[in-house]
Order: sequence, then C-alpha cells, then structure tokens
Amino acid sequence: MAKINFGGVEETVVTRDEYPLAKAQETLKDEVIAVIGYGVQGPGQALNMRDNGFNVIVGQRQDSASWEKAKQDGWVEGETLFSIEEAVERGTIICNLLSDAGQIAVWPTIKERLKPGNTLYFSHGFGITFKEQTNIIPPADVDVVLVAPKGSGTSLRRLFLEGGGLNSSFAVFQDATGKAYEKAVAMGIGVGSGYLFETDFKKEVYSDLTGERGVLMGALAGIIEAQYQVLRQRGHSPSEAFNETVEELTQSLVPLVGENGMDWMFSNCSVTAQRGALDWKGKFREATLPVLNDLYDSVASGKEAERTIQRGSTPGYRAELEAELKEVRESELWQTGATVRKLRSGR
Ligand SMILES: NC(=O)c1ccc[n+]([C@@H]2O[C@H](COP(=O)([O-])OP(=O)(O)OC[C@H]3O[C@@H](n4cnc5c(N)ncnc54)[C@H](OP(=O)(O)O)[C@@H]3O)[C@@H](O)[C@H]2O)c1
Repeated sequence: MAKINFGGVEETVVTRDEYPLAKAQETLKDEVIAVIGYGVQGPGQALNMRDNGFNVIVGQRQDSASWEKAKQDGWVEGETLFSIEEAVERGTIICNLLSDAGQIAVWPTIKERLKPGNTLYFSHGFGITFKEQTNIIPPADVDVVLVAPKGSGTSLRRLFLEGGGLNSSFAVFQDATGKAYEKAVAMGIGVGSGYLFETDFKKEVYSDLTGERGVLMGALAGIIEAQYQVLRQRGHSPSEAFNETVEELTQSLVPLVGENGMDWMFSNCSVTAQRGALDWKGKFREATLPVLNDLYDSVASGKEAERTIQRGSTPGYRAELEAELKEVRESELWQTGATVRKLRSGR
C-alpha cells in the first residue's frame, strides 16, 4: 500500500512496486480462477492472468462465436475451456464476466454451484448494487470482490503486451474467509492493472454509469451534435463544422491532454484560443452542472439500472437499437465523419 497525493488529496493505492506479481502468485497459488464469459473483458483478463502464471480456466456457453474465439486463443476444451456450469464447479475464484444482462440470466446457475470459501469476483458493481432488480444476492459463506479495469478488455490486453497496465479500482463487498482483501488485490495485479485504487461496489457503479452517460459518451456526443448544428446553421460547410468540432478533438487535442494535462494544452495553443477557451470554460461548467447532478440522482435512485434492464430485456430491443444507431450513422455529422476518416487515411 502506498499513500499517494492526488492534487492535494491523499489516497491509499496499490502499485506493482509494493505488491509485485510474485506476491500475487503466492497469494493465489492454490486457486483455480474460472473466468466466466469470453466477451470483451473475459479474454483480456483471462489471457493476462494465464500469461502471469495463474491457474486459469474459462467458462463460456457453446455454439457461440465467443467459444470459438476462446479456442483460437489457446483454451483447450475439457482442459481449460468448459461450459459455464462446469467451470463454476471447478473454480475457486469465480470471475463473473458475463454482460450485465447475462449475469442476471445466469445467476441461478452460478449460485447453486458456489461452495463455502469460494470467491465471487466481478468487474462491475452493477449486479450486487442493484440487487432489487438483478436478484444477485450471494450466499454469506463466499467472499465477494471486485476489480474493475478502467477501460476496454482490448486495451487491458494490449497494454499488458506492451509492458504497461490499465488502472483498476478494487473493492470488497463481503469477506467470509478473512482473506477477501488480499485476494482482491492479488487479482487486480494478476489481471495486469497499472495501479489499484480502492472503492466500494456502489461507488464503482455510480461513477461508472455517470461517466459513460456523461463526459465519456453521452455528454460528448450531445455537445458535439450541438456545436456541429450551430456551425452548420450559421452557414459553415460540413467539412469546416466537423473539423472544428470532432477532428481536432480526437486527432490532436485529446491525446495531448492525456499526455500533458489541460494547463499544458491551454499554454500550448494560440493566445486567441487560450483566452477564449479559459473565458468560456466556466460557462460550460455552470450550464452542465445541473444536468450532471440530475444524471447522478438518476443513477443513485436506481432509475438508470431499471431502464437498462427493462430496455435490454424487451423483445425487439436489438432492432430498435439498430434503428437508433442507423440514425446516428446516417446523420450528416457522422457521414461527414466517415468521409473525413477516409480522406485522413488516404483510403
Ligand atoms: N467492456 C469492457 O471492456 C468492460 C470494462 C470494465 C468492466 N466491464 C465489466 O465486465 C463485465 C463483462 O463485460 P463485457 O463487456 O466483457 O461483456 P460482453 O462483451 O457483452 O460479454 C458478454 C459475455 O457474456 C455472455 N453472455 C451474455 N448473455 C448470456 C447468457 N444469457 N447466457 C450465457 N452467457 C451470456 C456472452 O456470451 P456470448 O458471446 O455467447 O453471447 C459473453 O461471453 C461486465 O460486468 C462489465 O460491466 C467491462
């Protein structure tokens, strides 16, 4: 554990320096880690743990592209690749990496196979936090932990192969054995995290749902649409509106902000851009604060979870979603984007 100062606030975090891989291997040496679900997180976590020397098996429903993918990735049917039922039976740490809807559907199958002292592991606080909607209520004699990598399973794997790591949060919901904390940290190191910061299941899911509905996707998409619309209505061409709204953002600014921070960005642009951006930043903050507070309330009240579960389980949802995405794809804004991408890459 290291105490690290984040902008004046001290947090206790775990880095690979104080909790090296060898210690994680020692902690988990007698465990059979069953990764249930081979979607996006499943492969990233399972392959990283396998390469890190842990005893890993995969549980995935058959007759599925994910089953075939698991075989292509070197998991061997009957040795390291099993049905979900058999993998849960064989595992001592059960990593529930099914989609959130899949976790609800498969929970009875998992629950009846859990043994006292097992560890139930999640990468999202959704199922446990919104138990009224999901019915995921673990028995009292198992440990329940979380490691949530802050990014896609694809990035988790890519960064691992490059020698780096994605940051993850970790949490303990239930400590039946007295070893849940140690196991959570060891799993966090095992899946290839950069550094680990502690949270709880509720905070993890509240921040995650707020983030993806807010700045990461919902707010980003909304503000892009609004600015593009203003520029187009004021007589700017699609090329001009798109380049000033999206292309510079994704191709130039965001990577630079990621590398150097916002203050660096402000001091490394023209004085005109710098003065204007600093003057307008506060107005955007004040305008969006009420929306973000509404969003957080909606998450905390369980409304967002209810809507996600209800929409996801409605027959015909896939077709409705496809129609919604088609509208986005075929909008002038994103059609312009497709053309700009082709021109950018010279194809
Ligand atoms: N996406 C990310 O990178 C990311 C990042 C951090 C945390 N997480 C968390 O990690 C967990 C897994 O997310 P994911 O994005 O990897 O999910 P995903 O790609 O949607 O994976 C879904 C997995 O669940 C299986 N599945 C879905 N419904 C099922 C059902 N009814 N019965 C049996 N299997 C079913 C799928 O099997 P088939 O392929 O056969 O359908 C697949 O193996 C979630 O809790 C998520 O919140 C994800």
